[in-house]
Amino acid sequence: MTPVVGRGLGKLILCGEHAVVYGHAALAFAVDRATEVTVEPRAGRRALTDSDVSDPRLEAALDAVLPAEGLTVRIRSDLPVGRGMGSSAALAAALVRARAALDGARPTFEALFERALPVERVFHGNPSGLDVAVALRGGFLLYRRGPPLQAVPVEVSVPWQVVVLDTGRAGNTADLVAGVASRRPAIDAALERIGALVLDVRAHLPDPVAVGALLDENQSLLEQIGVSDPDIERLVALARAAGAHGAKLSGAGGGGIVIALVTDPEPVLRAARAAGVTAFTAAIGGAP
Ligand code: MEV
Repeated sequence: MTPVVGRGLGKLILCGEHAVVYGHAALAFAVDRATEVTVEPRAGRRALTDSDVSDPRLEAALDAVLPAEGLTVRIRSDLPVGRGMGSSAALAAALVRARAALDGARPTFEALFERALPVERVFHGNPSGLDVAVALRGGFLLYRRGPPLQAVPVEVSVPWQVVVLDTGRAGNTADLVAGVASRRPAIDAALERIGALVLDVRAHLPDPVAVGALLDENQSLLEQIGVSDPDIERLVALARAAGAHGAKLSGAGGGGIVIALVTDPEPVLRAARAAGVTAFTAAIGGAP
C-alpha cells in the first residue's frame, strides 16, 4: 500500500464565536494553512514517527480514528496551536480523511463531520462543530449547529481582507467555553445579540464600513461575556488606530488572535511591526 494523506484546513471566525455553541449562527472561513496526516503500513503497533503537533491528548485522538496496529503516522501542520485558528479541528478533519483514504471510501461531508466531531471533543468538551465544518468543507460558511446542521457556503466576493494579529499567548478553548457556560443565563441576551449581529454581517458583507462597525460591536459583546483580555484589547485598539474598519478577537479568546477588517492591510501591518506584534494577512477560503 502506498501512503495515504488526509488534510484539514485552518479557519478564522469572522463573527459569532461562543454564541454558536448555543445554536446561534456564525460566519467563518478557511485559510491557506492546514494539517496533513500521512498514514502508511508497518508491522506491529501503530507508531507516530513524526509530528508537528505535540499535545498530551494526541494519542487519544489517534485512537478514536485509526487502528491500533499496522500503521506509521506522520502529522504536518503550519497552524499555530491555541490561537483560534482551528488547529484541533484541522487535525480531526485530517485524521478522518486519512482513515477514509485508508479504507478506500469517499464519505459525504455529513459523514466525515459526524466522525470528526468526537475527535474535536477529545480536545474540548462542547464544540459547536463550526471549526470542524470549515476544516472539512473549506471556503466561507454560514454555520448553525444542528440538528439540522447548517453549513451554507457564502458565495460573495468582498472588497476587504483580514489582518491577523497574534497576542503571543494561547487561549484554552475548553476553559473559555466552560467559563461562558457558567455565566449563563445572565449573559444570554449578549449571546442572542451576537447571533443577530452575525445575520446583519451576512446581509452587509460587501460593505467594509458596515461590517467593521458590527465586528466592533461583536468585540464589546465578547468583552461582556468574559472572554476578552487586556492583550486582545490592546491589539484591537492598535488595529483601529491604524485605520482598520473594525477589529475583534477571533476564536475562543483569552489570548489567541485578533482579526482586523481592512481594505489596505499595510497600515495595520506596519503598526503591528512597530509595536513588535506578529501580524499577517489571511486569504479567505482555502480549498479542501
Ligand atoms: C472556537 O474556535 C470557537 C468557539 O465558538 C467554540 C466552538 O464553536 O466550538 C469558542
